[in-house]
Amino acid sequence: MCGIFAYAGTENAVPFLIDGLRSVEYRGYDSAGIAVIGGDGKIQIARRGDHKASLENLAAAVGKGHLPGVASGMAGLVGIGHTRWATHGEVNQKNAHPHSSSDGLVAIAHNGIIENFLELKDELVDSGIEFKSDTDSEVFAHLVGRGVANGSSLRESVVGAARRIKGNAAVVALSALEPDTVVGLRVGNAGGIVIGTSAKTDASVMASDTIALLPFTNEVIYLEPGEIVEIERGVIRLFDLEGTPIDREPVRVNQNFEAAKKGKYPDFMSKEIAEQPDAIQGALRGRADFAAGTLDLPEITLTRDQINAIDRVVLTGMGTSLHAGMFGASVIESLTRIPAVAENSSELRYRNPVLGPNTLVVAVTQSGETADTLAAMEQARQAGSPQVVVLEMEGSQATRIADFTLPVRAGQEIGVASTKTMIASMTTLLELAVFLAQSRGAIDSEQVKKIVEMLAELPSLVASVLDIDGKITSLAERLSGFSDLLYLGRGAQLPIALEGALKMKELAYIHAEGYAAGEMKHGVNALLGPEMATVVCAPKNDLYEKMLSNISEVKARGSEVAAIATEGDDTVGRLADHVIHVPDCPGLLQPFLTVVPLQMLAYRTALVLGRDPDKPRNLAKTVTVE
Ligand code: M6R
Repeated sequence: MCGIFAYAGTENAVPFLIDGLRSVEYRGYDSAGIAVIGGDGKIQIARRGDHKASLENLAAAVGKGHLPGVASGMAGLVGIGHTRWATHGEVNQKNAHPHSSSDGLVAIAHNGIIENFLELKDELVDSGIEFKSDTDSEVFAHLVGRGVANGSSLRESVVGAARRIKGNAAVVALSALEPDTVVGLRVGNAGGIVIGTSAKTDASVMASDTIALLPFTNEVIYLEPGEIVEIERGVIRLFDLEGTPIDREPVRVNQNFEAAKKGKYPDFMSKEIAEQPDAIQGALRGRADFAAGTLDLPEITLTRDQINAIDRVVLTGMGTSLHAGMFGASVIESLTRIPAVAENSSELRYRNPVLGPNTLVVAVTQSGETADTLAAMEQARQAGSPQVVVLEMEGSQATRIADFTLPVRAGQEIGVASTKTMIASMTTLLELAVFLAQSRGAIDSEQVKKIVEMLAELPSLVASVLDIDGKITSLAERLSGFSDLLYLGRGAQLPIALEGALKMKELAYIHAEGYAAGEMKHGVNALLGPEMATVVCAPKNDLYEKMLSNISEVKARGSEVAAIATEGDDTVGRLADHVIHVPDCPGLLQPFLTVVPLQMLAYRTALVLGRDPDKPRNLAKTVTVE
C-alpha cells in the first residue's frame, strides 16, 4: 500500500519523480504528491487528492518542471514522491503526502501505519504544533522536524522519530538543511525500499518497488527492516538504527521494464489475462523436462529424510493467493497423501496454530510483501517449520523469511486484480505436489511422466480458452444487471468459484458469494430467486453429477444459471441458461481452464458497467498494512 519514489541527481527531479510514481501507482492511487528542494534551497510541495486521477492531475500541474533557478514551476535536483492508499484521513489534498514539519524544513512520505499516532499527536499539539492533515503520517514529519530544529542530522532525526513510533513504516525524508540528501527508513514489514544508482547519470534513486528503478539500473540494494539509508548523487550509505554502517553489495535483478507496459492492450488486466499461457510456461521453465518426462524443483534442497518427515502441509496467503493455496492444498494432499490445509494468513497469525519442524509451511504471495502473509511466515519460522514461498516478486521480504523460494515467473503483474500470477502460482504448486509426492515414493516415475505430459499441453489449452471472449461479453452484459451473484463449485473447483466471486466483487463491484455447492441446502438456498443469478463450475469430473443436481435445484428456485462446462457436454446446456465451454482435459488441469473464463467474465462485466479494471475503487495491489 502506498508507493514511494525518491531521486537525487544532476537533472531536475520533477519528471523523474512523476515517472517513478507512475511505476508504483498500482500500490495506491487515492492521492499523489512530490516534494523537491528548489533552486532557492526551500522545500516545494505539490499534491493532489483526486482519487485515481491524482497522479495525472499532479503531472499536468507540475508540467515538465523547470530547471533549477527558474522562477516558476517546480524544480530541484533532489526530491521525494508518494502515491497514497488512504488509511487515516479521507482522500483529499490536505491528506496527500508528502507532509512537512511546521517550519517547512522537513518533508516526508510514509508507507505503513503509525499505531500510536493519537498519543504522539496529543504530545505534539501540546508542544504548540498545529496539524494540517488528518493522517497518522504527519506526526512523523513533526518528529523529524523537531530533531532537525534541535541540530540533529536528517538521518539522526529520522532514527529518533522511528524510535517513537509503534507500527510499521517505510519512509523517505528531505531536509532543506541537507539539500543533496534523501534519507530512507524501513521499520517492520510495511513494504520494501529498493535503492540503486544509475551508472550513466550518477542519479541515486529509491522506491517501493524494483520496477521503478529499472530505467536507472538493474543492480539494486534491498533495505532490510531496522535499516536506514542516505542517498546523494552517485552515493548510497546504509546504516543500522544504531548508526553502524552496513556494507551490502547490490544484486542484479532480471525484471524487464517493457514487460510492465500495456503495449497493444487497452489495460493491464486484459494484457495479463492474455499472458497466462506464457505465465504457465514461465512456471514450468527449468523444472519440467518435457523430453525426459521428469520434473524437478532445484530450488528446494530438503533431503529425502526431511521430506519423509513432513507430516502436515499448511498453505497460507490472502485473497487470490489464498485461493491458489487452496488449490495447492488439494493437489498436495491428493498426490502426496500428506494432510494439507490452506488457511488465511490473517487468521493463522493470530491463532496459536500447531506448527513444528515436521509441518511444511507454504506461503503464496504475488508481491512477497503482504503484511498478514509475512506475519504468518514469521510465526512459522519461530515454530521451526521448514518453509517454502511461492511468489512473483523475487527479492521481496518473503524470500528472506522463507527457507526456499519458488518464483512463479509470470512476469510483473500491474493490474490490481491478480490473474496471471494466480495461474502461475497454481502451476508452481502443482509442481511442488509432484516433487514432494515423487520424493516420498507416493507416485512413481511413470505417473510423473504422465503429469509432465499433461503440463506440456496446459499453455495451449489455456490459450484456447482465451478465444471465447465473444460469448463472455454477452454473458457479462446479462450479469451486469444483477446486484447479487452466487458462484458454486466442488472439490478443486471450489477455490475457482471463490476466485470468480472475488474477481466479480473487486472489478464490477457486484456482490458475489463463492460457496461449496454442497452447502446450498444448509442455508444458502434461502437466497435463491430471480433476483440472484448463479455461476456454476461444472466441468466433467468425479463430482459432475452432483453439480448437475445443484444446477437443477438452483433452477427450480427461479435463479438464472450460467455454467462453465466441458466442450462436448450437452447436458449442462439443457439445464443452465448460459453455458461457457472449456476444452476437455484431465481433472488435474480443469481448475486452470475454468478460472480463465471467470476472470474474463469479471473483466467484461466491469467494462459494461464503466469500471476501471486496473484501478478498482478502495483497493491497492500490495497490502502492506493489516
Ligand atoms: O501479493 P499477494 O499475493 O500476497 O496479495 C494478496 C492479495 O491481496 C491479492 O491476492 C488480492 O486478493 C488480489 N490482487 C485480488 O485480485
